[in-house]
Amino acid sequence: MALPDSGPSARGLLRFLTCGSVDDGKSSLIGRLLFEARAIMDDQMAKLDRDSRKHGTTGAAPDLALLVDGLQAEREQGITIDVAYRFFGTPRRKFIVADTPGHEQYTRNMATGASTADLAIILVDARKRLLPQTFRHSRIAALLGIRHVVLAVNKMDLVGYDQAVFEAIRAAYAPLAQGLGFRSVESIPVSALNGCNIAGAPASTMPWYQGVTLLPYLETVDITPAAPGPFRMPVQHVIRVAPDFRGYAGTIAGGTVAPGDSVVVLPSGRASRVGRIVTMAGDLPRAGAGQAVTLTLADDVDIARGDLLASAESPPEFADQLAADLVWMAETPLLPGRRYLLRVGTSETGVAITALKHEIDIATGEPRAARALAMNAIGRVTLGLDRAIPFDPYESCRETGGFILIDRESGDVLAAGMIRHALRRASNIAWQGFSVDRAARARLKGHQGAAIWFTGLSGSGKSTLADRLDRALVREGCHTYVLDGDNIRHGLNRDLGFTEADRVENIRRVAEVARLFVDAGLIVIVSFISPFRADRAMARSLFEPGRFFEVFVDTPLEECERRDPKGLYAKARAGKLPNFTGIDQPYEPPETPELRIMTGELSPEAGAERLLGLLRGGGILP
Ligand code: ADX
Repeated sequence: MALPDSGPSARGLLRFLTCGSVDDGKSSLIGRLLFEARAIMDDQMAKLDRDSRKHGTTGAAPDLALLVDGLQAEREQGITIDVAYRFFGTPRRKFIVADTPGHEQYTRNMATGASTADLAIILVDARKRLLPQTFRHSRIAALLGIRHVVLAVNKMDLVGYDQAVFEAIRAAYAPLAQGLGFRSVESIPVSALNGCNIAGAPASTMPWYQGVTLLPYLETVDITPAAPGPFRMPVQHVIRVAPDFRGYAGTIAGGTVAPGDSVVVLPSGRASRVGRIVTMAGDLPRAGAGQAVTLTLADDVDIARGDLLASAESPPEFADQLAADLVWMAETPLLPGRRYLLRVGTSETGVAITALKHEIDIATGEPRAARALAMNAIGRVTLGLDRAIPFDPYESCRETGGFILIDRESGDVLAAGMIRHALRRASNIAWQGFSVDRAARARLKGHQGAAIWFTGLSGSGKSTLADRLDRALVREGCHTYVLDGDNIRHGLNRDLGFTEADRVENIRRVAEVARLFVDAGLIVIVSFISPFRADRAMARSLFEPGRFFEVFVDTPLEECERRDPKGLYAKARAGKLPNFTGIDQPYEPPETPELRIMTGELSPEAGAERLLGLLRGGGILP
C-alpha cells in the first residue's frame, strides 16, 4: 500500500528567507552559509573555480555568489530575478532557504518565499544603514506571519569593523521590529565576503562582538510556537485498500494528534475518533505539524479530498464572509467586484472581492484609500465566498488561514492572501421570504421574467436594438423595462467614471438592479458596453440558468467610428477622452453569447424578431 513518507519533525528543519538587495551582498551571504555548512561538494568546488575565473568579481578567489544562483540572467545582469530554494544541512538541523530578490517590484516573489518561512534574514549594508526596503521587507515578513528575524549587518569590513556603526543600525531597527511584533530579533555584524561571524567563534576582526555567529544561531534558534495550536489536517488523498482499510492521507498543518482523539470532519461536521496513525515506518503513538501521515477513523464517515480533519474540542471557524490581506501578484490589477477562485489547502471555491477596504503602504504600514490594487501592492479586502469554508486566522495556522486567488479562465495565480477574521455582519442578515412568488407574478403578467443583456462597442447599435425589442415586446402585451448605460449614469451611477474599476462597479450595480426587475417578473433589457468578460460573467451568475440572455451587438470598430453618433470617437482619437472603449481600453467580445447580431447584416427590426424567437424558445414568452 502506498503511504506518504513521514516528513521531518518541525524542529529538525528551519525554513528561512533572505531579504536584501543585490548590492547588500545577499548571494555572497547565502554562498558563504552553504560553504560553511560544508554543503559544497568537491566537484561543485572545481566548477566554481572555473566559473569564478570566467564571471566572478573576486579575482582568483572563488566567488561564492556564483554558487547561489545558476540563473543565467542574474550572472549577466547582476540581479536575482526569481525565488530559488536551496537545501542544506548540518548535523544539528536541515535548512531550506528561499532566496528572493530585493527590488521593490518583487514584493510578490518575497511573499512567495515568506509564506512558508519560519525566519527572515534581513540584510543591511553597513555603509547604507537602514533603507526603505529594509522597512518593506520587514513589514512583508510580518504580514506573512514570520515571527523570527535576524538583522544581518553586512559589509562590516567596509566600515572598518566599527562597533558604533553596528550599534546605530541595531538601535534604529529596534522600534520597527517592536511595532511589527516579532518574537525574536537577533542582530549580528558580519562580513559575508570575508566570512566574519558567519560560523564558528566570533571573528577576531570584531573583538567587541561576543554574541552568537550566524550559522550556529540558525542551528539553535527556537521556532516552536508558544502554543502548538489545535489539530488540523487537510485531506490530500483517500486511501482505500481491500478488503477494509480506509485511510486519510495528508500533512498535519497544525497541532498534534493521537489515537483516540476526537475529530470533526469539515465541511460536513461529522464527528469521529482517530483510529491509527499509519506511516511507512509503522504506526505512531502521536504525530505533529509538518508530518505526513495517514489516519484511520473509528467510524465510517464520508470524507473526500479537500475536506479538513480538525480537533473536535477546538474546531476551526466557519464563514463565507471574510476579511483578508492580499499580496497582488498579477499584471492586471485587482478590481473589487470581480470573481475568482479561492484555494485554501486542497479545497476550492468561487469568490468575489466585495470590497477593497484599503491599500497598505508598505513603507509606513499606514492604510490608504484605493480603488484598485496594482501588481506587488498589499491591501485589505472583504471576500464573499460562494459557500462557507472552515478556516483559522492566518496568525494561528498558515495552512488553514492562507490562500491563493486563481483566475477562473487562465488558471493563473493572481494573489496570495491571509485570512484575518470572519465578518459576521452579513450572517446576521437573513433573507426574508415573501408569499407572492415568481409563479404568481408570471401568471399575472402572462410571461416569465428574464434579462436580455446587450453588450458591444459604443455606437454599435445597442440602444437602437433595445428600443426595437422593447416595442415588439410591449406590442405582445409584455411587461418590460430598459436599463441603458447613458441613462443609468445620469442617476444611480452618476458617481462612476470610465476607469476599469468604475466599470466593474457600474456593471455590478446594474446587474443587481436587473436581478430585482426579473424577480419582479419583468423582461428587463440591459444596454451597456460592459466591455469585460469577467463582469458579464458576474452578471450572469446572479440569474438562474435560462433567465439571462447575453446578446453580442457585433459592429466592427471601424463602423462604430464611422457612425460616431455622439462624436466621442473623434474626441478619443484626439486624446480628449481617456479610457475610451476600443481606443485606449479593451473590449473583450463574448465567447459564447446566446445570440450574436451583426448589425451590418440585419436591420434592428429583424434583430428584434430574432430575439423574440429566442425568448419563445427559452420559455420566457408563451
Ligand atoms: S460601461 O463600459 O461601463 O458598460 P456604459 O454602457 O455604462 O459603459 O456607458 C457607455 C456610454 O458612456 C457610451 O455610450 C458613451 O456615450 C459614454 N462614454 C463617455 N465616456 C466614455 C468612455 N471613456 N468609454 C466609453 N463610453 C463613454
